[in-house]
Amino acid sequence: MKAPGPALPAPCAIIKLHMTRPLLKWVGGKRQLLTALRPHYPQAFGRYIEPFFGSGAVFFDLFDSGRVDGHEVVLIDQNADLIGCYEMVRDEPDAVSGVLEQLADGHARGGKTHFYEVRDRQFNPEREARRLADGRVAYTPALAAMLIYLNRTGFNGLFRVNARGAFNVPAGKYVRPRIADRERVQAVSTALRAPGVCLRYGSFTEALTMAEAGDFLYLDPPYAPLSPTANFTSYTAPRFGPEAQHALQQMVITLARRGCAIVLSNSTAPQIAELYDRNTVAQQAGLRALRIPARRSINRDAAGRGPVEEYVITNVNL
Ligand SMILES: C[S@@+](CC[C@H](N)C(=O)[O-])C[C@H]1O[C@@H](n2cnc3c(N)ncnc32)[C@H](O)[C@@H]1O
Repeated sequence: MKAPGPALPAPCAIIKLHMTRPLLKWVGGKRQLLTALRPHYPQAFGRYIEPFFGSGAVFFDLFDSGRVDGHEVVLIDQNADLIGCYEMVRDEPDAVSGVLEQLADGHARGGKTHFYEVRDRQFNPEREARRLADGRVAYTPALAAMLIYLNRTGFNGLFRVNARGAFNVPAGKYVRPRIADRERVQAVSTALRAPGVCLRYGSFTEALTMAEAGDFLYLDPPYAPLSPTANFTSYTAPRFGPEAQHALQQMVITLARRGCAIVLSNSTAPQIAELYDRNTVAQQAGLRALRIPARRSINRDAAGRGPVEEYVITNVNL
């Protein structure tokens, strides 16, 4: 008879086997940097607040590992389409997946012609018609599916609008793009519907009034460009320029003094070094600017291609 092997570990509440992959490709998405960010997740915290949500790589990572179970979570982004789309994925995942499957069929038959037809004849007119006075867009499952389709088949997963606010990203060059993925839509919906999770259209500045001592904030703003020609900050119409980077630094210093756990990502642009690395006020607030290897190109400008480092600015686990 075979000798009994070592006892298997008892099932543990914090081991979750699912992996929630972000639904959208997003410029600056943090999936590839999670291993560098994880050591700075605090062991214990109150609320989790993510004021530049984007494709949500860090939130989904925290969700998958069970770290936000039982915590209030506030996810904020100033891109009204992104938030409108996620609301529909959260509330009506089956309807979104149904339309996505039709769009995937159309793309398999019509390719780029189908992409431009959806972008110009359906998506842009519909989202304009549904725009609300406060800038939000009253998304429907069909609009959400169109945004996911355009994101997964458009050039580099960019979200860019023209002066009139119309989405104008050209078709990408993918041979077999993965467009419809019911399981992924369902997994994202489950994470966003988890008790205590709140999704908001708004500005990062809301974190200032909301955050209390002990809360954990991951902040991933549009990166300061490494060179004057790099056009890396155009996620939404208003540019995230030097004034916004400065306002963010002031907020982060206030929150660090308040006793919040801060993890912030940014480029190693000179302005960011001045704001956090060579800045005694930031240091006195307990913040340190750590340089970590950047595993992706954050700058498609030829001169600045492939920077080797970026910043993690934090007061956690130093
Ligand atoms: C670098 S991306 C975040 C990427 C995200 N961490 C991920 O993994 O996909 C920056 C995000 O900030 C949002 N944003 C830009 N300006 C903002 C503002 N003033 N307030 C809140 N969000 C803003 C953009 O819409 C974009 O989604």
